[in-house]
Amino acid sequence: MQPAVRAQFPQARPRRLRRTETLRRMVRETRLSVDGLIYPVFVVPGGDVREEVPSMPGVYHQSVDQVVEDAREVADLGIPAMLLFGLPSTKDWEGSEAWAHDGIVQQALRAIRRAAPSLVLIADTCLCEYTSHGHCGIPGPDDQPGFIENDRSLELLTRAAVAQAEAGADIVAPSDMLDGRVQAIRSALDARGLVDTAILSYAAKYASAFYGPFREAAESAPQFGDRRGYQMDPPNGREAVREVGYDLAEGADMVMVKPALPYLDVVHAVKSTYPDVPLAAYNVSGEYAMLKAAALNGWLDERRSVLEALTCIARAGADMTITYSAKDVARWLSSAALSSELTAVG
Ligand code: PBG
Repeated sequence: MQPAVRAQFPQARPRRLRRTETLRRMVRETRLSVDGLIYPVFVVPGGDVREEVPSMPGVYHQSVDQVVEDAREVADLGIPAMLLFGLPSTKDWEGSEAWAHDGIVQQALRAIRRAAPSLVLIADTCLCEYTSHGHCGIPGPDDQPGFIENDRSLELLTRAAVAQAEAGADIVAPSDMLDGRVQAIRSALDARGLVDTAILSYAAKYASAFYGPFREAAESAPQFGDRRGYQMDPPNGREAVREVGYDLAEGADMVMVKPALPYLDVVHAVKSTYPDVPLAAYNVSGEYAMLKAAALNGWLDERRSVLEALTCIARAGADMTITYSAKDVARWLSSAALSSELTAVG
């Protein structure tokens, strides 16, 4: 402590307020709530399919009928929102199933909308799960690795966003990191009268190694090159605040920082700069897999470590967290034993 502060508060004895659980509960600065949870799912073609993703125990590839069951459970647990990813039956150069009227996510959106009408449905808007090359946009004619044609790709992304909105998505979430996509999507939606569909932009999305398990789950690893020509460079923090500013100027209703745990400084910076903008953080596949693997080995207490991680994401400034642990967290938060467990954090 600074000597000046000690002089200002000569009687300070902070441990007084840590003495009992009730005291700690009363002065707690951050309260984790089910209201801020968003649950991601992977939809696959077929019927009666429910296959665990090997690198993400507890996460499944599910056909539409199974996702509908899952959606009912998610709604019953009080989780407000689901984020949908799709694995198409066939991939092609332009990722046409991303915007097909009957594309896999569009089918799921219609079915869930009927089964769980109050659930907030968020569609991940991207091409990488649908393209044969695995990039989030369309590679250009020169074969520079990972080179993506920005404006041509925007045209395809906007088609996907429109198809998702028409199928019932409350929110479309562009995750491609191409320039100008928020504005392109907003105009395309408005032109079709889809003025109530909101945009959650993956505004500060980094070229992160922590997406590894997701790319296995979504079969979306780039077939050549990498995503560093469009996703952000991990060492850059100030740039993230600028990216968020551009997306807000283009009409984003909510913004996201992704990944979450290694980027809490970015979450904090974005929240400090734009305190009034709803901010989501994506606790990505690799973050999930790390804790899960350690828990399965008996090296970490899953409940305590997941709750601590999510509480810290909220403390950094996230209003919402996208997490594969959402259903477990909702159950834990509603269990009476929770408060004493949370405070048992070492
Ligand atoms: C699609 C997309 C990715 C994730 C969400 N949307 C993968 C990527 O950019 O390679 C990652 C989610 C996760 O790791 O949990 N562009």
